Amino acid sequence: MSYRALITGASAGLGTEFARQLAALGVDLVLVARDAARLERLAHVLRSRYGVDVEVLAADLTASAALEAVAGRLSAEERPIDILINNAGFGVYAGFEASDITEERRLHELLSWVPLRLAHAAVPGMLERGSGWILNVASAAAFLPSGSYGSAKAAAVSLSRSLSARYRASGLRVTALCPGLLATEFHERMGEDHLPALPSIAWADTGRVAREGLRALYRGKPVLVSDWRYRLALPLRALLPDRLLERLGTTNDPGLR
Ligand SMILES: NC(=O)c1ccc[n+]([C@@H]2O[C@H](COP(=O)([O-])OP(=O)(O)OC[C@H]3O[C@@H](n4cnc5c(N)ncnc54)[C@H](OP(=O)(O)O)[C@@H]3O)[C@@H](O)[C@H]2O)c1
Repeated sequence: MSYRALITGASAGLGTEFARQLAALGVDLVLVARDAARLERLAHVLRSRYGVDVEVLAADLTASAALEAVAGRLSAEERPIDILINNAGFGVYAGFEASDITEERRLHELLSWVPLRLAHAAVPGMLERGSGWILNVASAAAFLPSGSYGSAKAAAVSLSRSLSARYRASGLRVTALCPGLLATEFHERMGEDHLPALPSIAWADTGRVAREGLRALYRGKPVLVSDWRYRLALPLRALLPDRLLERLGTTNDPGLR
């Protein structure tokens, strides 16, 4: 039996990694992002390397008509989607007091509303078929005082836990994957001079994070912090006051304010 996964934010970074790893397992794909040419190039490589079926669905998920088109693909009965990976995301560089409110709204839509909307479209068919997997890419920032980005990611964690508990007995698995820092395009997209100056140990391996996320989803783990260095470090937050954590976060990575 072959499975089909829809991945948002598949044109770069962690999303491309999910696409490669799933294709290598023989999973058919629907790739979603704004950059159609880049998705087509990736689709071509995955079809020829792994022999899987790959659809490209170019969409700006913060535009409601495009979001509804993707939701429509998720609820379609033909060529049903077994696995939804809500991965698309970006960060706002400016601190809260100075940020553009339109960008803040787009950020909350993409990180919090879009995963909810797409899960809502996917769940009824998954329930009917008696199986389905939803992976929401959140962030370790969800557990730290990390400004509007952290608050939007915390909403994705909370939704994942709730859906996981609600639909587990019906055969659905829902996981919030919470990565630490990843050397993807995420930080560059906020501006070249905004790359956090951190030692290499702070950067998690993108391939390993994707692999751990897929394994957690398969096992039905509601929340996974990835990779190991963040799993080890995160409990320390309970020992430190929010004021200090907030300062550390904004000093090391202003992009995650
Ligand atoms: N990098 C990190 O340090 C880090 C840490 C923790 C969590 N995360 C989370 O991991 C996820 C993946 O990020 P990444 O690090 O792989 O970043 P990335 O390399 O910048 O990739 C982001 C992806 O999201 C897509 N995207 C952005 N805005 C979109 C929109 N409006 N509509 C549709 N697609 C959109 C981009 O494609 P197009 O430009 O083609 O649309 C791209 O494919 C995000 O949810 C991010 O918040 C990242």
